[in-house]
Amino acid sequence: MPKVLFAVSEVHPLIKTGGLADFAGSLPVALQELRHDVRLVLPAYRPVLAQARAWRVVARLELPGQQASILEGALPGTRVTCWLVHAPKWFDRPGGPYTDASGHDWPDNAARYALFAHAVTRLALGQTGLNWRARVVHCNDWQTGLVPALLSREADRPATLFTIHNLAYQGLFPAAQFPALHLPAALWGHDGLEFHGQLSFIKGGLIYADRINTVSPTYAEEITTSALGYGLEGLIKHRAAHVSGILNGVDYRVWDPARDLLIIRNYSSADLAHKAANKQWLQQHCALPVQERIPLIGMVGRLVEQKGIDMLLAALPQLVQLPLQLVLLGSGARPFEDALQDWARRYPQRLSVHIGYSEELAHRIEAGSDMFLMPSRFEPCGLNQLYSLRYGTVPIVRRTGGLADTVLDASADHLKQGRATGIVFSEEGGAALLHAVRRALDLFSHPPTWRALMLAGMRQDYSWGTSARRYSALYQQAIAARR
Ligand code: ADP
Ligand code: GLC
Repeated sequence: MPKVLFAVSEVHPLIKTGGLADFAGSLPVALQELRHDVRLVLPAYRPVLAQARAWRVVARLELPGQQASILEGALPGTRVTCWLVHAPKWFDRPGGPYTDASGHDWPDNAARYALFAHAVTRLALGQTGLNWRARVVHCNDWQTGLVPALLSREADRPATLFTIHNLAYQGLFPAAQFPALHLPAALWGHDGLEFHGQLSFIKGGLIYADRINTVSPTYAEEITTSALGYGLEGLIKHRAAHVSGILNGVDYRVWDPARDLLIIRNYSSADLAHKAANKQWLQQHCALPVQERIPLIGMVGRLVEQKGIDMLLAALPQLVQLPLQLVLLGSGARPFEDALQDWARRYPQRLSVHIGYSEELAHRIEAGSDMFLMPSRFEPCGLNQLYSLRYGTVPIVRRTGGLADTVLDASADHLKQGRATGIVFSEEGGAALLHAVRRALDLFSHPPTWRALMLAGMRQDYSWGTSARRYSALYQQAIAARR
């Protein structure tokens, strides 16, 4: 099996802002089970360093204009070797990976991720004194976009795969920053890293990688349209023969109510009644009336346009009049945070809003809710609906991207066939969301139907096996294309 260098900007449990970290924390483990020699590489951010105190320095790199060292350890809880690119000036600072503590992008992000790309390139080529050289480099999102671009300049190079987790984030910077990044001048231009006069990191992946994929088949189609292609649809169509969609898997070691260490009471389809203890805890914790029969809707996620928070806000005046409870955990755009908190203050019996980030509460919301709402405007894959299925927490989702590919609507036919797993709605906007929630409440009021929906969801298997084999095949294709 080919040696794979897996380059990524976040990985669970070391550092996480969203689903990318879950992906990076679980696919390499599944690849290892398929006997790939896979090495993870990510920047040594401050919170990561704090968890890597015992890791050792295995290489020192002289990169263009600067130095970096490589720390080596195992990704906690796994046997996957993980390399940290330690460059204190760029990564050892307070705040998040991409933004400062107040949520503003770091002004030197281009320099930070260019340095990371230079280091990854050296590791991939085996130019670090470590006795290891990659056959394939698997890059993820714009933060690693320069890696395929840099490698394209090498005569004897590994094959490259670029995975798009979210095309909306492109790593766009003023063109004036290009010279400071120590990139070959030949990479500049319309057929290179330039995008309407700006420097685009993601184009590095889209143009130079041997293979490209996204995280669901439907999203792979959607990014060829002007609505979700963000001006890159032409380029993606041009590369259509090399673009595919592979659904994300779930790490059921972490996200399974039968063994989840963070929830109040474990349960499975065999002892579903124990789910009630989780609901009771959630209601108490959120100071909501503790009632078993009132439907409780959970929501966890980044509070940004993508996630349809504006649609939720548009529907809230009607939602709070319905017999339901809503628990929301998230952080993101300030106006969304403020508006949601405002509603929660006005309707404390209906709505509980938690601004912030909590792995524990996220698990407890999955376990304690009856339904899980994801009204996303677009969703490359989405992991929370997959978790919800396993937790018997019926997803209510918009028909887009990975949501469309993984949740089967409770239409009369699907219910009759015992295949329905959730409530799916198509239109954007508050009215459609409200209609979907009303449908869910109707179904909930009929316990046998609801139970069938829960159980059908819990039976779904989104473990990584199948998808990891697809990645493995894609690596082979990339290697063959390289030859
Ligand atoms: P995205 O990657 O677009 O944010 P996904 O559905 O793929 O969306 O993954 C989101 C992941 O991040 C899930 O594991 C979810 O539980 C987690 N998450 C998002 N926001 C929070 C939060 N505020 N607290 C805890 N976990 C969160
Ligand atoms: C992105 C997408 C999300 C996907 C995740 C992991 O953050 O927004 O839909 O599940 O990446 O691939």
